[in-house]
Amino acid sequence: MDAGPWTLLDGIGALVTNDPGIGAGPLGPVRDAALLFGDGVVQWVGHRGREPYGDKVVRIDLDGRAVLPGFVDSHTHPVFAGDRADEFAARMAGQPYTAGGIRSTIAATRAATDAQLDATVSRLLTEARRSGTTTIECKSGYGQTVADELRSLRVAAAHTPETTLLAAHVTPPEFDGRTDDYVRMVIDRMIPVCAPHAKWIDVFCERGAFDTEQCRTVLTTGVAAGLIPRVHGNQLGPGAGVQLAVEMGAASVDHVTHTDTDDIAALAHGTTVATLLPGAEFSTRTPYPDARRLIDAGVTVAVATDCNPGTSYTTSMPLCIALAVREMRMTPDEAVWSATAGGAQALRRTDIGILRPGARADVIALDAPSHAHLAYRPGVHLVSHVWKDGLRQ
Ligand code: NIG
Ligand code: FE
Repeated sequence: MDAGPWTLLDGIGALVTNDPGIGAGPLGPVRDAALLFGDGVVQWVGHRGREPYGDKVVRIDLDGRAVLPGFVDSHTHPVFAGDRADEFAARMAGQPYTAGGIRSTIAATRAATDAQLDATVSRLLTEARRSGTTTIECKSGYGQTVADELRSLRVAAAHTPETTLLAAHVTPPEFDGRTDDYVRMVIDRMIPVCAPHAKWIDVFCERGAFDTEQCRTVLTTGVAAGLIPRVHGNQLGPGAGVQLAVEMGAASVDHVTHTDTDDIAALAHGTTVATLLPGAEFSTRTPYPDARRLIDAGVTVAVATDCNPGTSYTTSMPLCIALAVREMRMTPDEAVWSATAGGAQALRRTDIGILRPGARADVIALDAPSHAHLAYRPGVHLVSHVWKDGLRQ
């Protein structure tokens, strides 16, 4: 815990708190604000000049900058080796994306040392932190053996508490044509060994990956081992992923690109967050999910990067916010909420994605007067300050 002096952020031009009790609307905005944090948590939020000001406070004048909660990237796959730039170039020349490329990353990942995997995760998480991400979920899934999934989770757990066993990502080559046998191995051996190192269990429910029954079995076994379910669903085409996620009370169903009226109704009536990953559509040059339709139906939407070497090799939440606004018809307010509070809901966290007394002091400032500039000025590095647990990064 931070035993140092408390920090007062003063001269905030526009503050996003995500607390409707503090300011009007979901973003809970405060103009001409100040924010006090210490001991790792937010201590006070309000209009500048009204703050309690003790003698052990370090004051930082933000000179009119916008301040908001750090981004919560609730979906990444950073434990891998190699890259697939050639596959990307071929796609941009007209080749369609198929999940088959996952196998080349599995081969490279299995051949890598733990130190190499750790170096890649460190590099990607440092990138993410610089662009304002203060909480990140990390999946395994490029091992698909008990030993390789276990070490992937161990590497991830050294960097974040939000670790996910993506046990059923793709059938590995040694189980070619025997997906049911692979699922049996996941249930009998992989989940018991790996569950103590993960918080979440994830599956790729998609034609060509795992079918509904296989996914249900894996998720149910994971839940029995103490993990909480999340699902990759409806990414490459229509399918049962969304319905399965809602039926199982999953924290989140991710991608949600190909949905029908029944899928949207199920999400609107359930507790599962729809996590949209526009970096994937950007990098596969495929149509984006219709966030407007989801939000207008009352669905809770998160935005995340999906950082992985196949479909979305970016750690930039600001890029995803810009894509969400321009390509998925979200407003800047909605996109910023989804990248902070929405991500927190997708991770079932109430201590992050919000700036109110008692919440984690995960805070970012922008070289801009409002959060809308994240979408309005795409591609510009606007994140000027990052505090994680109250500590300047
Ligand atoms: O979320 N959909 C499955 N998994 C990743 C892609 C993995 C890859 O192509 O390496 C995704 O898009
Ligand atoms: Fe993914």
